[in-house]
Amino acid sequence: MQGFGLCLPTVQRSLFLLLGTTLTLAACSDDSTSADDSTSADDSTVTSSSTDTSASSSVSAGGAGGTGGAGGTVTSTSTASTSSISTSQGGSGATTTMTTGGGTGGEFVAPALLSETGLYEADMTTITEGVLPFAPEHALWSDTAVKQRWIKLPAGSQIDTSEMDYWVYPVGTKLFKEFSRDGVRVETRLLQKIEEGEWFLRAFQWNEEQTDAEARPDGVFDASGTEHDIPSENQCINCHDKMPDIALGFTALQLSHDGEGVTLQQLIDEDRLSDPPAGPFTIPGTDTERAALGYLHANCGNCHQPRSFVANMVDMYLWLPTGDLGDVASTPTVLTSVGQRAAQTYFPGGDGGGGETSFDTRIVAGDPDSSIVALRMTTRETGQAMPPVGSELIDDEGASAVRQWIAEMPAP
Ligand code: HEC
Ligand code: HEC
Repeated sequence: MQGFGLCLPTVQRSLFLLLGTTLTLAACSDDSTSADDSTSADDSTVTSSSTDTSASSSVSAGGAGGTGGAGGTVTSTSTASTSSISTSQGGSGATTTMTTGGGTGGEFVAPALLSETGLYEADMTTITEGVLPFAPEHALWSDTAVKQRWIKLPAGSQIDTSEMDYWVYPVGTKLFKEFSRDGVRVETRLLQKIEEGEWFLRAFQWNEEQTDAEARPDGVFDASGTEHDIPSENQCINCHDKMPDIALGFTALQLSHDGEGVTLQQLIDEDRLSDPPAGPFTIPGTDTERAALGYLHANCGNCHQPRSFVANMVDMYLWLPTGDLGDVASTPTVLTSVGQRAAQTYFPGGDGGGGETSFDTRIVAGDPDSSIVALRMTTRETGQAMPPVGSELIDDEGASAVRQWIAEMPAP
């Protein structure tokens, strides 16, 4: 098991350092088969710290993304009990601080128990009034966990949707996500916007009696006798800081459905959006195309989008901006992957192994077996698996959706 950043090749590791981020990189171990969500106290770690802003701006200038975010100044501090990261997003000019400890000195007191967060009534099974369920149309694969999500928007508040793909949530917003495995609630996660640009992130592990859940800032490996890992707060940050205002699934595109829970249409009708769109958005294409594009958006797009620092390493976007949904051929997903040469030649099984087979195209129309995008979804090899964090098992259904899409693509 390992942290985010994983067994990054040295060049990438130094890029992280150039960006001025303090990252805790768990050491690479050969027997590790997955890039999972968890960390444990006995992992050996490499921690490095830098606040060299001139280095980060020069990386930004040379970056592929161009729209900012990735090259922002990043400073971090870490002590035994608290850690926070503040990032100034080049794109929006916003500054985001993530608090994972006891608060930053204001009135906010970090909850130690889920019962202190306002999600449930005292019985811990009835959801409090005003906390509303929602579901992204395309979910992140989390092994076999069943997930439920809720949002609490402060009364009378609006979400700033002046940038439709990068919403800015009102101060006081709380988002929750609960994970059950084998029918038992294992953990519930909280994202809470404490003040403009400052978020609190925490996971709570349910007790055996299912009467309350306790804060687990360091994560738990194989929690509650299941194979579900609770991520540490560094790992929360490493996924959630890919978006300027932290929330990943409560977005215009992901709420463009007429299923259960809060929808984009409902937010429009209830005047919850500062700049409401005319209506819900539609991913273009046939069912096969929409399934694949939606899957890639949800499972890969948070990293592979212009405002994530990953854009500085690979200029491939698997993310669907709401303004680019005219037809399949003009989505960034197709434009930056189909027939496009990869940043790195891909050697299945690792390049030290002397294997002769290698691939150099992200997606070869009609040929999933030669398409690096599909190949990296169906390996769990360290340093090759995509996504590199968040799950231990290959998502067979997701991988087949992407493979089928590629197989049906007319060869150029
Ligand atoms: C592997 C990447 C990853 C890690 C690690 C991760 N998250 Fe998330 N999280 C996501 C994605 C992607 C979504 C949206 C898709 C979904 O919910 O299926 C999400 C959704 C959420 C939501 C629902 C609101 C939203 O943003 O859509 C909450 C709450 C949340 N995460 C909290 C946390 C907390 C707290 C941690 C750490 C304990 C954490 N997450 C760790 C990727 C991650
Ligand atoms: C947590 C962030 C993250 C997520 C999520 C993620 N990736 Fe990546 N991806 C990276 C990074 C960092 C690199 C560059 C380093 C490397 O090649 O391993 C990368 C590289 C790649 C490459 C190589 C591109 C090239 O030009 O060499 C492919 C293909 C890829 N990812 C596909 C995917 C797919 C498909 C998904 C979703 C199933 C996904 N990624 C999800 C971070 C992520």
